[in-house]
Amino acid sequence: MKDQTTGSNPLSPLTRRNFLKAAGAVMILPRSAWAGTGRASASNRITLGVMGWGMIGPSNTKSFLAEGDCQVVAACDLDKNRLQTAVDTINGHYGNKDCAVYHDYRELLARDDIDAVMIAIPDHWHALVATAAANRKKDIYGEKPLAKTVAEQQAIVKAVEQNNVIWQTGSWQRSLPNFHKAAEIVRNGLIGTVTRVEVGLPDGHYDFAGNEPAFLKKMASLPNAPTSPAQVVPGTAAWKLAVTEPPPEIDYERWIGPSQYEEYIECRVHLNWRWNYNTGGGQLLDWIGHHGDIAHWGLGFDLSGPSEIEGHGEFPPTTAIWNTATKYRIECTYRKEVTHYPGDVAITIAGGYPEIKSGTKWIGTDGWVWVDREKFDASNPEWVKGDSLPDNLRKVKLYESLNHQRNFLDCVKSRKPTITPVQTAHHSTLPGHLGLISMLVGRKLQWDVAEEKILNDSAASELLSRPYRAPWRLA
Ligand SMILES: NC(=O)c1ccc[n+]([C@@H]2O[C@H](COP(=O)([O-])OP(=O)(O)OC[C@H]3O[C@@H](n4cnc5c(N)ncnc54)[C@H](O)[C@@H]3O)[C@@H](O)[C@H]2O)c1
Repeated sequence: MKDQTTGSNPLSPLTRRNFLKAAGAVMILPRSAWAGTGRASASNRITLGVMGWGMIGPSNTKSFLAEGDCQVVAACDLDKNRLQTAVDTINGHYGNKDCAVYHDYRELLARDDIDAVMIAIPDHWHALVATAAANRKKDIYGEKPLAKTVAEQQAIVKAVEQNNVIWQTGSWQRSLPNFHKAAEIVRNGLIGTVTRVEVGLPDGHYDFAGNEPAFLKKMASLPNAPTSPAQVVPGTAAWKLAVTEPPPEIDYERWIGPSQYEEYIECRVHLNWRWNYNTGGGQLLDWIGHHGDIAHWGLGFDLSGPSEIEGHGEFPPTTAIWNTATKYRIECTYRKEVTHYPGDVAITIAGGYPEIKSGTKWIGTDGWVWVDREKFDASNPEWVKGDSLPDNLRKVKLYESLNHQRNFLDCVKSRKPTITPVQTAHHSTLPGHLGLISMLVGRKLQWDVAEEKILNDSAASELLSRPYRAPWRLA
């Protein structure tokens, strides 16, 4: 497949959104300017490049394809097969052959006629690509968790704010009515003063890529054959069997990118990279941007964070193929000095503790409310009924969005914040990062919420960032 980094541009080089940005405009366009036939004229469309065609990239892209004022003009991936599927899907939708193909995200970002990008690549790549995109003035739909480390998140926040670009995080639960209703119940004080919140996340490792059975079959003839990649460590016969040449369709050298170089093992690359701390953050970081994000939303903590964090986890050997925590529990204290609450608020984040149910549960002095995907319960059965609270209870009305990708496009045009802007994503993810660091160093952490630094613990502070493999550098 040939890269098309230049070539004729079907769209105006100064697209509508770039024009608004260049003019420093903050006006909101009337919907009629975009509505009508269902497809905006070419010069009015937001041009989008999509990066990463794995689990979530395709579904994000399909939502963008469905919007008439958005034109997906480019796709980028390091796996040729996946890239081909992306291009076929996009071109199939439009009935043309216009989608440009990129292997190197920098070439896609170099195009002046691309307004916005959707980034759905593994966590270890988020910071490099997102900061480069912001520096190229692209508006960004980026995935959760914001980045692999706290320092990388801070770099993304800085780049997005300095360049004044729109950011939407893939924390799409905020665009669903049941999560919105739960958060409004809490924000309107219906459960009284919140004292405690429980955030239940998954435990263990899920074989998202579906390659664990083949892996185990390969191991079956070994004496003491492993029953999970989490048992396989370097220097063993099982490890030797696990390591292979990368398949020709993947540029593995680039895929591993800024992370430490590791031999290719299929079940820690596509999708299952989550279970290896070199590239992902386990279930904790995979999910903190969902139920942890919702916990913060209900509390109004989008710009706040925990002052004290104590995490405990159970881990496979650190060098195992899958080495992320299989079970974890993090106790966070949000001090009243850094929130608008009259007292401290305790948040427990746990995976593998059945008493902490999946989802988000806020407990207050006058009641409680619990929400999970397609699940809802509350101390007052009246609150359970319907998609939203009765209007008389909604003195505080939270941001409303019923479609996360649509909300992004609307904000690209209006230049107003999305429902999950970059600071929100940063703060929603912090308890996950800090909880993981506490688990790894084996002690309680003190976090300075305003200065964003760990107090009096140099070993823990070192884990706020990570070394990059040359030649990659986070500017
Ligand atoms: N919001 C959600 O509900 C949700 C769901 C799943 C995943 N995610 C997030 O989306 C991101 C991607 O996860 P996934 O499960 O889709 O991963 P995946 O492994 O299935 O797909 C990632 C794709 O990115 C490509 N890629 C890797 N590095 C790249 C680079 N430098 N340039 C271009 N392409 C590159 C890979 O080749 C792969 O095809 C992660 O951050 C994940 O946490 C969010």
